[in-house]
Amino acid sequence: VLGLALYSTFTVAETPIYSYMTIGSDMVSSTSKALGKDAQIISSNDKVTLMKIPTFKAFTVSSLMHAEKIRCPGFMLHESEAEAKSYSKNALSGTKANFFEYTVDQEETVNELISQVKEATIVSTINKLSGYQNRYYKSSHGLASSTWIKDYWTELLKSRTDAKVEFYKHANWQQPSIIATIEGSTFPDEVVVIGGHADSIISGGFGGSTDSNMRAPGADDNASGMATITEVIRIAVENGFKPARTVMFMGFAAEEVGLLGSKEVAASFKKAGKNVVGVMQLDMTNFKGSQQDLWLMSDYTNVKQNEFLGTLIDKYIKLPWGYSKCGYGCSDHASWTANGYAASFPFESKMEQYNGKIHSVNDTLATMNNSALHATKFSKLALAFMVEMAKE
Ligand code: BES
Ligand code: ZN
Repeated sequence: VLGLALYSTFTVAETPIYSYMTIGSDMVSSTSKALGKDAQIISSNDKVTLMKIPTFKAFTVSSLMHAEKIRCPGFMLHESEAEAKSYSKNALSGTKANFFEYTVDQEETVNELISQVKEATIVSTINKLSGYQNRYYKSSHGLASSTWIKDYWTELLKSRTDAKVEFYKHANWQQPSIIATIEGSTFPDEVVVIGGHADSIISGGFGGSTDSNMRAPGADDNASGMATITEVIRIAVENGFKPARTVMFMGFAAEEVGLLGSKEVAASFKKAGKNVVGVMQLDMTNFKGSQQDLWLMSDYTNVKQNEFLGTLIDKYIKLPWGYSKCGYGCSDHASWTANGYAASFPFESKMEQYNGKIHSVNDTLATMNNSALHATKFSKLALAFMVEMAKE
């Protein structure tokens, strides 16, 4: 629960002088001790504290978090104070507003589709993606790996006249996001999103040592989520699944550097007035760190949609699950939440027991026993979500 989010306000030559940072309130006293007078508390509640700090002190905070074995790096950068606040404002205990009527009645279709999930195809996608030197947002490898995803999804969907796969290009870095769309047959304007991040990184600390040729396999974080989604597409197509609502599969660029890709995508959807009825984020699905199999992150997500996912797990997956919390906007679901959409984030373990190899050269399939068994559960959940959300 002890992540931290860092918000820069004022930028000179790309280095912000002051930064706004939200941290778990349980970290305030050690942070204040480390930063002394430099740390200014702006607001605080029992969960989260917003602080203003000189940016050069961010590394101190990052090291502190690390030393206390909390998160690495666990912060995000924002372009403005206003944007920073929109992230921290509504998202902390989970959003409640909801218009969607959740029902569960597609037993036959869901059971058929989930019976077709194969570990081997997920393994092969994870191997392919983690075989790139890295998938860093500013490197040629980041572009090449996302091009592979686009081409592969295009190949999977090629028989479908109601589908397309596109890049969503970003002005400030090379790696595009990827969006595959299957048009809804009855309510094409209502959109169900299943997404994950396509990029990878290794930690270098704040302002640290990320270079475009670093080795960052990111097998769990997040080749696993992208492979989980790819398996859903494969099965949807092989069964001629025709959604009544539009279904979009997304691979976001630049998540690891502050949710940058999803931030642009979600904001553009909001600006265009798109009616996204539900979002599922898949980021880290293949490391079984806890006894319960599936974990729903309860912060920066939608309460009712989370409950709906719990119902889907009980009915279709029939495995133990629980609620956990990141404590900060730790993945792309937070971008959707910040733009007013209902998002959920099913996760591989409870927060305290996630895969400690992420953001290192050892985030490989080998360090996950060369198995994708855990990820299969998430493909099943995503299939159930797709079918029950996109039905008539
Ligand atoms: N997959 C992680 C998020 C994560 C890690 C969730 C561990 C739960 C447990 C994601 O790719 C990531 O690293 N996010 C950053 C934050 C982002 C705003 C830069 C992080 O957690 O440091
Ligand atoms: Zn990560």
